[in-house]
Amino acid sequence: MAVGIFDSGLGGLTVLEAVQERLPDVAFIYYGDNAHAPYGVRDADDVYDLTTRAVERLWGAGCDLVILACNTASAAALRRMQEKGVPPGKRVLGVFVPLIEALTERQWGDNSPPREVAVKHVALFATPATVSSRAFQRELAFRAVGVDVEAQACGGVVDAIEEGDMILAEALVRSHVDALKRKMPNPEAAILGCTHYPLMQNVFQEALGPDVQVYSQANLVAESLADYLERHPKMRGEGGEGAYLTTGDPRRVSSRATQFLRRPITFTAA
Ligand code: DGL
Repeated sequence: MAVGIFDSGLGGLTVLEAVQERLPDVAFIYYGDNAHAPYGVRDADDVYDLTTRAVERLWGAGCDLVILACNTASAAALRRMQEKGVPPGKRVLGVFVPLIEALTERQWGDNSPPREVAVKHVALFATPATVSSRAFQRELAFRAVGVDVEAQACGGVVDAIEEGDMILAEALVRSHVDALKRKMPNPEAAILGCTHYPLMQNVFQEALGPDVQVYSQANLVAESLADYLERHPKMRGEGGEGAYLTTGDPRRVSSRATQFLRRPITFTAA
């Protein structure tokens, strides 16, 4: 047994790296649906179908707990999956809530009514599907009042990263930050609402300027998972073996992953 980490492609590796560092005794099985990335330009039904297939594969591989390390899947599929009901003993969690709790200065599971928080102007960078779901704004509204969110759909960035074209990815990030700043000239905080974007975090920070606090999910999700596993030790999956699975070409995906994480990573066919 292991804990499953799912993303449409390589972005979830930013989360995987943080959870592996935070929880070195836990085995993780990573599943990248690289054959179908990017998810961010697909409709909600399509994202739901692909996400369900991936999560079922991870359950089949012995994972009781699966983390959707993908905002697009968390936004478009998680609630529907949970409402439909998951098999007994299985759990699926998303990556939105830890980020919003950090932004709104809340402890895990603090369900008190929404209140005023320090930040008032927040820039959200995410995929077109995540932006159009408005899931981020919905989760935020449960916890905070008076926060102005300007969302920028960052078309093309995930494709460029998946293709390993970091020059194009950088140019696109700069142009999306410019577009955001035309709508909101002085954000106080910026959310990287796609797990691929931490691979471009320096470019976001540079383009936004040093006064903008950039929130990215990896460490927040790692802390929240550590907390969850302490409260639900059975979900740790003791004694499991880690693995990297992809629906894409394992050689190509292994080579990109090795480049991103700067250590040898070997994917096998999902
Ligand atoms: N890493 C995924 C996310 O967090 C990327 C989605 C995509 O494939 O477009 O949204």
